[in-house]
Amino acid sequence: MYQVYVRSFLDSTGDGIGDLAGVRAGLPYLKKLGVDGIWLSPFYPSPQHDHGYDVADYCDVDPVFGDLAEFDRLVTGARRLGIKVLLDIVPNHCSSEHPWFCEALAAAPGSAARARFHFAEGRGPHGEEPPNNWHAMFGGPAWTRVTEPDGSPGQWYLHMFTPEQPDLNWRNPEVGAHFDHVLRFWLDRGVDGFRIDVAAGLFKHPELPDSPDPEADARTRDSVNPLAWNQPEVHDVWRHWRSVCEEYTARDGQERLLVGEVSVPTAREHALYVRPDELHQAFFFDLLGAPWDADQFRKVISEAMQDIAGTGSTVTWVLNNHDQVRTVTRYGDHGTEGSGLGTARARAAALLMLALPGAAYLYQGEELGLAEVLDLPDEVLTDPIFRRTGSRARIRDGCRVPLPWSGHASPFGFSADAVDVKPWLPQPDWFAEHATDRALADTSSFWHLYRDGLQLRHSLPQLGEGTLRWLESAPGVLSFARGDGLVCAVNFGTAPVPAPVSGAPLLASGSCPAGLLPGSTAAWWISDDTSHNTDDSMGLSR
Ligand code: GLC
Repeated sequence: MYQVYVRSFLDSTGDGIGDLAGVRAGLPYLKKLGVDGIWLSPFYPSPQHDHGYDVADYCDVDPVFGDLAEFDRLVTGARRLGIKVLLDIVPNHCSSEHPWFCEALAAAPGSAARARFHFAEGRGPHGEEPPNNWHAMFGGPAWTRVTEPDGSPGQWYLHMFTPEQPDLNWRNPEVGAHFDHVLRFWLDRGVDGFRIDVAAGLFKHPELPDSPDPEADARTRDSVNPLAWNQPEVHDVWRHWRSVCEEYTARDGQERLLVGEVSVPTAREHALYVRPDELHQAFFFDLLGAPWDADQFRKVISEAMQDIAGTGSTVTWVLNNHDQVRTVTRYGDHGTEGSGLGTARARAAALLMLALPGAAYLYQGEELGLAEVLDLPDEVLTDPIFRRTGSRARIRDGCRVPLPWSGHASPFGFSADAVDVKPWLPQPDWFAEHATDRALADTSSFWHLYRDGLQLRHSLPQLGEGTLRWLESAPGVLSFARGDGLVCAVNFGTAPVPAPVSGAPLLASGSCPAGLLPGSTAAWWISDDTSHNTDDSMGLSR
């Protein structure tokens, strides 16, 4: 599956912002790459305080991105090419400009309109302190005080992200009913499923008690406050959404897919989200979070195989998305422009991911080997994290810069035929080397590696779903067998090691002289020799 960050994919109107017609124009490119489907980042009407993750209307298209008719054309075009379409649905919070929130602000404390959110009286003699000590994920308190309609200082409302993203109260049945309507609205328009934002969110501890470590979420930029996330009630929602999907499947025989953004402390808890009657898939982020180290990768993969795949469900792998520093930069010694060690490792990691049992999600630009754009000037940054913390640490603009398609100067074909357009984030000159026209013409490019890997995933029965058997390997090397005779090995070190299979690899992330696996390289082989020694030191032969 391929994540399309709509605002940065392809701009059909020349306003410097990608749009749905641009996505439609890019479908043949995605077909050629060999993806099964796309996940579209939010394109709904939104004041864009968090690039569409602040939804003001769940059943429409923001004019910046097109309209419903254009959306329908995109779905039709994708279907014609056999590409599935997933939408990004944001149920944990809406925009402060959503009609519900406007109504809540205009209504009195205790009203039905306020009961759709978490409004509470403040603490302190005059209610001047927030109702509890929680901090928001993007910095600052998780509560904002409102002014009551009569002008007096009033209640507080909860927002786990920015104040422009009030959290919905899922203990109020009206909220669930609204999202039922939203799901059906889009399923009726022909979508194949949803990527669910913050899927371990929705419910908070019913008492909203103080947290012993209130800044943990902001510090880790992960949903770790056990009072605010991962409450047991959320599983009922996913069971219900699954039943809605099944209802549509029963009608037309077409599968619908729910994939959750699930950030929970352990693989075991993660597995609960992908039980047979819940989500079909949930991103397992531990691989993305692992440093370039064979032991750490092995630990993450082993845990996933044991605790998630071992319970009969599937693991969904991801190395990049619109919230994370791109792999090329993450695996480099320092920020690079996409050359050297980080690039070699990112290529190897891609082959590793595509060889693992389960599903794989790619993020646009990953197939072009884009590095993070690290030198964006402060004045162009749009990430609310920067706005709220004043710090550039882990801001996300650098992985969201519009894609380069062709040519030697910005906008690199991003804005259709227009040349004097400024994309919404400036593209660096070095994007030229990664433009899709160059990537397609160069058989040694990242693009060809992904294309070849995806083709083999389609044609080789050993890949995709199935099991994994670790093979004995030298320190710093991971080697495993898939099904009958496919071997994947990754050398995390820098010096060459003997290859686990003597013949030429089927596919390799770098050049592989006979019998050797160079440093920072991964390769796949088909081997008739089944005598490879299994390494069961993790107790994991499956
Ligand atoms: C998810 C999205 C992220 C967004 C946040 C709040 O983590 O991936 O981009 O900022 O939710 O909706």
